[in-house]
Amino acid sequence: MTEVFAENLEDQIDKIIHQYDADSRYSLAVMQDLQETLGYVPREAIDKMAGYFNRSRGELFALTTFYKALTIKPKGRHVVKICAGTTCHIRGGENIGAGITRHLGIEPGDTTEDGEFSFEKVHCVGACALAPVVMVDEDLYGHVTLDKLPEILGKYKDADGGSIDAEVRP
Ligand code: FES
Repeated sequence: MTEVFAENLEDQIDKIIHQYDADSRYSLAVMQDLQETLGYVPREAIDKMAGYFNRSRGELFALTTFYKALTIKPKGRHVVKICAGTTCHIRGGENIGAGITRHLGIEPGDTTEDGEFSFEKVHCVGACALAPVVMVDEDLYGHVTLDKLPEILGKYKDADGGSIDAEVRP
């Protein structure tokens, strides 16, 4: 994800939108570019696109909910995923998900206020033999237990220079 300072956000959005002709069939392409460049599709962009493409904001929001790759909320620096596939579910994945919520203070679909972590529920990630599975960014953790969560999540706080409690330091 490219970091963009707030004061440049409007300029960035304008630049991306105006790379395309004012034809509504380019709406999705603009959103994909916004997602790739900014890491999300800001509400300000939806407003600007509505004017530029002469489409309703509702239609444009519907696109962001239909395409899973698009999100209107900025994602955290680290994305924590709990697998909600059948095998992980049977092996206690839901419990692990609840543990992540307790640890980070957010529900699936949310981002912590400090922008450090986003939390998502995902479909089977293809590592069922390791169920229950948690992913943090591209790292996969198998046979996760509630006891292991502080250590797993603590690694990512620590890696960025954040402070973690001594007892959870790996
Ligand atoms: S069900 Fe979780 S990895 Fe397959």
